[in-house]
Amino acid sequence: MKEEKKLFIETLGCAMNVRDSEHIIAELGSLENYVLTQNIQEADLIVINTCSVREKPVSKLFSEIGKYNLQKKDGAKIGVCGCTASHLGKEIFKRAPYVSFVIGARNVSKISTAVNNEKFLSVDTDYDESAYAFGEYRNSLYKAYVNISIGCDKKCTYCIVPHTRGEEISIPADLILNEARKAAKNGAKEIFLLGQNVNNYGKRFSGNVRLDMDFSDLLNCIAEIPEVERIRFTSPHPLHMDDKFLETFASNPKVCKSMHMPLQSGSTRILERMKRGYSKEWFLNRALKLREMIPDVSISTDIIVAFPGESDEDFEETLDVMRQVKFEQVFAFKYSARPLTKAAEFTDQIDSEIGSARLERLQLLQDDILDEIALSHLDKIYPVYIDELRNSGYLAGRSDNNALVQIKGDENLLGRTVNIKITNPKRLSLYGELVL
Ligand code: SAH
Ligand code: SF4
Ligand code: F3S
Repeated sequence: MKEEKKLFIETLGCAMNVRDSEHIIAELGSLENYVLTQNIQEADLIVINTCSVREKPVSKLFSEIGKYNLQKKDGAKIGVCGCTASHLGKEIFKRAPYVSFVIGARNVSKISTAVNNEKFLSVDTDYDESAYAFGEYRNSLYKAYVNISIGCDKKCTYCIVPHTRGEEISIPADLILNEARKAAKNGAKEIFLLGQNVNNYGKRFSGNVRLDMDFSDLLNCIAEIPEVERIRFTSPHPLHMDDKFLETFASNPKVCKSMHMPLQSGSTRILERMKRGYSKEWFLNRALKLREMIPDVSISTDIIVAFPGESDEDFEETLDVMRQVKFEQVFAFKYSARPLTKAAEFTDQIDSEIGSARLERLQLLQDDILDEIALSHLDKIYPVYIDELRNSGYLAGRSDNNALVQIKGDENLLGRTVNIKITNPKRLSLYGELVL
């Protein structure tokens, strides 16, 4: 048995990175006898799992590891993993010579080799670890992230992800089902499926695997696991929201009724320049059809403002979609030019101040929409799966359609689905009381 060592890990970026960090913790725990610590000074290994999607987190990386290098104890190692590791590779060693290893987002399974070798570098985006059996570790007892595909083939013109996570490969269904079964047997009643384009599942598997299975079929198979009560997923792509998918989503009772529909822009002209593959009309048709099929569905979205060439009229089209769909949640970002992407070379980049002003207007509109939505929850009763005890002392969970609900209550409610009456609805969270 190896001597016990301590691991401090910081995770930036999206849910895929959260899952990758769980894999890192599992591998280092079972193969190298690392246990987690929240205290940098006592860590033998500091790992930062990075995001490259916008420039900010990348600049944050170097200031963050510089700080860690000053705080760490003698002999402790620092490793950089994730999407920025994929795209900057060995340049990280040049800019931060105290870093011991650099492992890209497609190379997580090599973490144990990395800690045992000086200046280990592995950032190959062709590397296929879709069938690698990672060890078991989960941040939550109550819900489990399960990867269903890695990489992305879409190549939206603003996006660096295809360059950091490589081409899209679906994970064979039997591996996904085994993982979901194991997690559910261990108490995770909610399974959260992850991929960059989940509803494109089944297009290509690794090696010789051939499977006639699409995302709708996969959802139905997971729903057959008796211990699974709720299924969520992110991100689906609006382009692949065909009728079969919408019908499976609407009719399977275990599939939670919240859909992420990343709009990016409401202007068909900008969507074309982004290479999103759908128009404003297609997006509206799908979103409004969902609202019609499932009256209490919630729809969240991602929007980029000030994409190169976005005119005031284009931006108005985005606001128009927001007014028509009334998204329950909007993640809005100012366009950030990324290396290796087509849009970074477009000559009609928009002034940063114009971007900030548009973002502000968008957020004001969304606040009004959220106020209206919040009021509509008053006095309603929702079944809520309680999965978190917050530092504030509140218990928190999600309604089926993904509203964050908080109550004061006993810890033994964790892991249970209870009825909650909403007494104090706020924009970002609904507060309520237990209904017995
Ligand atoms: N696969 C998902 C998105 C993953 S990236 C999808 O297609 O929706 C998460 C979000 O980051 C994107 O939806 C987009 O809104 C935002 N994003 C990606 N690249 C960006 C960039 N260059 N500038 C600003 N936001 C960006
Ligand atoms: Fe990026 Fe587009 Fe792929 Fe999403 S679908 S990860 S935005 S390239
Ligand atoms: Fe996720 Fe950021 Fe990579 S959003 S896929 S961690 S670039």
